[in-house]
Parts: sequence; C-alpha cells; structure tokens
Amino acid sequence: MIKTPKGLNIGLVGAGYVGLVTGACLAHLGYRVVCVDRDEERLASLEAGRVPFYEPGLEELVRRNAERLHFSTDLASVVSEADVVFIAVDTPQGEDGSADLSNVASVARGIGYALAEPEASPREHPLVVVNKSTVPVGSGDYVSMLIRDGVEEVGGEAVPFPVVVSNPEFLREGSAVYDALFPDRIVVGADSSEAMDTLRALYKPIIEQSFPTELDPRPKVAVPFLTTDLASAEMIKYAANAFLATKVSFINEVANLCELVGADVGEVAYGIGLDERIGPRFLSAGIGWGGSCFPKDVAALRAVAAEYNYEPVLLDAVVAANEKQRKQVVGKLQRELRTLKGKRIALLGLAFKPNTDDLREAPSLTIARSLDSLGAMVVGYDPVAGDVAASSGLLPTSMKVVFDPYEALTGAHAAVLVTEWGQIRTLDLKKVASVMKNPPLLVDGRNVLDPEKVRAAGIHYKGFGRGRRSV
Ligand code: UDX
Repeated sequence: MIKTPKGLNIGLVGAGYVGLVTGACLAHLGYRVVCVDRDEERLASLEAGRVPFYEPGLEELVRRNAERLHFSTDLASVVSEADVVFIAVDTPQGEDGSADLSNVASVARGIGYALAEPEASPREHPLVVVNKSTVPVGSGDYVSMLIRDGVEEVGGEAVPFPVVVSNPEFLREGSAVYDALFPDRIVVGADSSEAMDTLRALYKPIIEQSFPTELDPRPKVAVPFLTTDLASAEMIKYAANAFLATKVSFINEVANLCELVGADVGEVAYGIGLDERIGPRFLSAGIGWGGSCFPKDVAALRAVAAEYNYEPVLLDAVVAANEKQRKQVVGKLQRELRTLKGKRIALLGLAFKPNTDDLREAPSLTIARSLDSLGAMVVGYDPVAGDVAASSGLLPTSMKVVFDPYEALTGAHAAVLVTEWGQIRTLDLKKVASVMKNPPLLVDGRNVLDPEKVRAAGIHYKGFGRGRRSV
C-alpha cells in the first residue's frame, strides 16, 4: 500500500536550477518539500523568498508555496523523514567531457550515512531515491553502490534498502516552471514496480493535469508517464538533448548552403517543418546552440562513446557544425569591414538565449573573445544578464558592458544580434542607424529581424542563409 500523494514527504538535494524548479512545483502541487543545500547564503536568500538567478515565474512560485517549501542544510534529518529523495545536484562537465559525478556521489554516501544512523526511524517502505540530475548511463547502480558504501562506512544497515530511480528533467531555461507543470512526458526508469508506483502517485496531478492553473485554455489535458528501465531512462535524457542539438546544427548547415545557392533558410525550415516527421521546432538557424545543457550533454555522450572506443561521427559533426557558426559571425564582419582592428562592435544580447541570465557556453563569449583578439573594441548589452556578464570574468577584460542598447550602438561600426530578446528585436531601427558609424552594419545572428525594414532604416543587413533577402 503506497502513502496517499499528499502524505508523501519529499526531500530534494540541490537548490540549484533543476532542484528549485522541481521543488517549487511539487510544493505547488501540495507536497511538503524540504530542499537541502550546503550553500547557506543561497538558502538564506531562498528563505527570504529571493531566487538567486533569473527564471520567469519561479520566485513567485517559491513565495506562494512558502508554507510547504522548506530549506535545510541537514541532509540526515531530511532523509530520515522523507519517503522520496530527489538528487538534483550539479553534474558539471569534467576535463574529458564526461559528467563529473562528485556531487552526486557525496549525496549518495550522505543518504547511506543517514539511513544507517541508529536513531533512523524504522521504515515500512524503502526510501525512493530519484536521480533528477543529468547523469550518464549506469549512474542508477552507481548511486545504489555509494549508498551501500555509506551505510557500511558507519557500520550500520539500511532495511529496507533504498530503491534508486532515474527521472530525467527536460526543463528549458526561461520556461522551466511551465515545462515542469506541463511537460511533454514524464520519464521514469526503475527496476522496482513499487518505486514506479510511488513516482506515478507523486506525479498524478501532472499526469492527469488535475492541479489548478490560471492558464486558459489549459496547455495540456494529460501527460504520458513513460516507464522503462534505468539505463534507458538515463539515455533518453542525453539522446533528447543531443537530437535537439543535431536538429539545430542541421538547419545551420542548411543555412550555410542556402547562402551559397541563394535560397532562404527561413522558407526551407518552414517547408520541411510541415512534414510531421520533422516538425517546425528547433529549426531556427543562426549562430548556434549554447547553454548549460546541450554542450555538456553532447560532450558527456561523446565521452561515453570514447569509453567504448566507439567513434560518434554524427555527434562529432554536430559539435563541429556548431563551432563553425560562431566563426561565421566574425567572417561576415571581416568581409564587410575588411579589418576589425580599432572597429567598435556592439554585441546585442549576451545570455545564451532569451529569458535567462545564464552565460554558460553562450555564443556571445566566443564571439567577443574572437573579436577582441582581432583588435576590435567590443561593447556588450543584455537586458537582463548585463550585471552577471560584467562580473562573470568570462568576457575579454577590455570589453565594456553597458545597460542601454543605444549606448552600445553609439559610434559602432557594426552590431551583432546575438540573443533574440524582445527588447532587442524591437529596437528603433532609425535611431540605431542614427547613432552608429556610417555606413551602419547589422549581423542578425538569429534571423529574427525583417531585412527590408532594417535596410529601409539605412542599415546594411546580414543574416544567416536568408537568400536574396540578405545580400
Ligand atoms: C535544453 C533542452 O531544451 C531542455 O529540454 C533540457 O532540459 C535542457 O537543455 P535549454 O538549454 O534551456 O534547454 O535551451 P533550449 O531552449 O533548448 O536552447 C538550446 C540552445 O539552442 C540555445 O542556445 C538556443 O539559442 C539554441 N537554439 C534553439 C537554436 O539555435 N535554434 C533553435 O531553433 C532552437
């Protein structure tokens, strides 16, 4: 017999991006959730209702569910009370591209220590330990082994022994709260049907879309609950991101070919996207993908391949095609401006995509560094990530970050649209032309502007594979 959903006590380790969004959404569904993190400063700001990163709607969700969403540094007490513990700690990219599991390992051992504590209350049901962090195939067994190590290290025993489940997340930055409450699917990998049932019960409000929402019409009426084995669930996460990255690299390759033959990649993407086997999404060509997930997950998959001496020719090409796109920007500027030495170049948008202040693996960083190394004076603007960028230490030291787009554009020989924020897409083009150096040049790294409108404002327009519209 499984505890009624509302009675389930949930522990969640890692109050970072994935952990906090997951925790706040589960509290929103009515669960009592305790988020554990060793960063006391982060917990203090969360206790005060402040989310230490930019994610639309998350701070409000954390505040609205404060009575159910708690924060602690004490893993042992959370484990002792929990029915389900989510591991949502960071798995950064290691030197060789593989996922660094050290955070996951220390949590798993910590769970073992806690369960083996003499005062740990006897359990009727095994603790369900859920891997929410992005972890390589085989990590479920690895976590079980480390929990056992932890138990044995303190000379105790954990009866019944916990069950480890894989439950990958598919959250997109900038729409994570929406993605958590209205996912395309919930994937659970486990060898225990009881643990599977526990997760099915926990996610019931999302599966049946029975929780209240202001969104009208409701985006989803039901959500598939996909059950599979551990390894397949772990692979689904990597394969999903690698496929999306492949789709983007593919359309960028097509954009480069369109540029050579005079076709418009926007038209091509629309035409192929109507084929249900292809679909219209993730076919926006431009300067390529970045962020905290695609680069890391594709690298981790290639590292797994290397472990087996398997040559992932397609994944290698996906990464090579992506790196090429960033260089395309510099190439376009050189072809138009000849030398970049002493030229003022404005980068419009620094975050890896809109609606986030995340600069991890952002195309803006690579472009800024290349332009700086070619002697250009680079000025950056981002409506949200400016402060983060300026203090990140990731930008060339000579690069300026300003907080007004027109200040960045003033006296600029060229501008590059790097992140398609609304604030940048709706700039006053006449004003842009009036403050830039004559003749003004704009490279649209996201193909989001109307070339005719840009040209009508007296600005020379360069896009990616936009055919006659970009000559
Ligand atoms: C991604 C996955 O979408 C999400 O399911 C997973 O959980 C985490 O990784 P995210 O990193 O937030 O989410 O970004 P996403 O919106 O997927 O964009 C990834 C990159 O691809 C961005 O740099 C974006 O600019 C680029 N992109 C996306 C394109 O260049 N063209 C497109 O058509 C779509």
